[in-house]
Amino acid sequence: MTTILVTGGAGFIGSNFIRYFAQQRPEFNIINLDLLTYAGNPENLIDLEGSPHYTLIQGDIADQALVYSLFKRYPITRVVHFAAESHVDRSIMAPDAFVRTNVQGTFVLLESARQLWLEEKSKLEEEPRFLHISTDEVYGSLKSQEPAFTESSPYAPNSPYAASKASADLLARAYYKTYGLPVMITNCSNNYGPYQFPEKLIPLVIAQALDHKPIPIYGKGDNIRDWLYVEDHCRALLRVLEDGRPGETYNIGAQNERSNLEVVHQILQILQDQQADGYPLTDLITFVKDRPGHDWRYALDTTKLNRELGWRPEVSFTTGLERTINWYLGQRDWISRIKSGLYRDYLARQYGSAI
Ligand code: NAD
Ligand code: DAU
Repeated sequence: MTTILVTGGAGFIGSNFIRYFAQQRPEFNIINLDLLTYAGNPENLIDLEGSPHYTLIQGDIADQALVYSLFKRYPITRVVHFAAESHVDRSIMAPDAFVRTNVQGTFVLLESARQLWLEEKSKLEEEPRFLHISTDEVYGSLKSQEPAFTESSPYAPNSPYAASKASADLLARAYYKTYGLPVMITNCSNNYGPYQFPEKLIPLVIAQALDHKPIPIYGKGDNIRDWLYVEDHCRALLRVLEDGRPGETYNIGAQNERSNLEVVHQILQILQDQQADGYPLTDLITFVKDRPGHDWRYALDTTKLNRELGWRPEVSFTTGLERTINWYLGQRDWISRIKSGLYRDYLARQYGSAI
């Protein structure tokens, strides 16, 4: 059976992708290589546990011997590489793990694929493909009136997270140019949806509001992000994995730019409408010290993906937010298990006594 290696599949986007991929391509064996850091949760794919087509391997993508052994052991012809340290604030607090996982880990994956795929090409069942998942943050920050980033915008990362992702992208590009490794890169805007760890803005707001706890807003809340529902991202990734051109980069975005404060108010309105106790949720909004180097605005031009692969987002922001909020409301246990000591320690380190 054809085998796909997904890295970081126990995290937010990775778990959504595996679930989607298993439905769309049931003929594949899926290997999920995940270190299960604080952000990785096997519960996110509990519905696939026991499936003969799904294997979770707890391990580090930067462990060369392990990654190489997986390529040797399984007939892997597809790689979808999500595994990363993904939170900007944590990268400001402690950048080391970002360099190790995002840069060294990506290098190890590319190098193992190169050794096994290019040197033992005749043994492969089909043409291999490596999809490297990246972010719009590599392009840096836009001013209010500037046009959206295209695939040829220069890289100008501003946080240790963005710099580590940019470095990984450049390695991926070099492996295509130098060795002909069939790599595609996607750079996506902010995702939201089920299973997102409540350190990122949208699930953090939901989790805090449910507990009637302060909601921290950096600066004045006027920074702008382009929000994409995670399922739309997964659909785009499958299109690029199967029909994208090796060596190419594809931007993925929703053309759904909103200020942080606008997003927070919309979430609180939906929750307020569902809540019987009448607690004034907007009173929870608390302005806190701004994030250092806080990017002002992200926006992506997705003409290339639309023109070449016919992709466009299908889920409106209102529908996506309602689905997301309903999911969190139905998953109180999932959230309360996360809100263990470690999560509380993180909130205390990040926000001090503000929340
Ligand atoms: P996440 O933090 O929710 O999940 C990351 C996963 O990687 C976790 O399961 C974690 O255990 C695993 N992991 C971390 N270090 C590892 C290591 N050394 N070896 C193996 N596994 C490891 O992240 P996410 O939000 O799902 O993002 C997934 C990918 O998508 C990342 O590469 C991120 O840069 C990119 N991305 C995210 C967004 C977004 O809005 N969340 C947008 C664009 C791109
Ligand atoms: O743009 C894609 C990126 O989106 C991904 O590459 C990253 O992995 C992902 O974390 C995300 O980065 P952001 O920094 O944009 O997302 P975050 O949810 O952390 O913050 C969104 C906005 O909300 C940003 O302007 C900072 C602000 N914010 C965030 C937090 C956590 C707050 O005002 N308060 C907060 O407590």
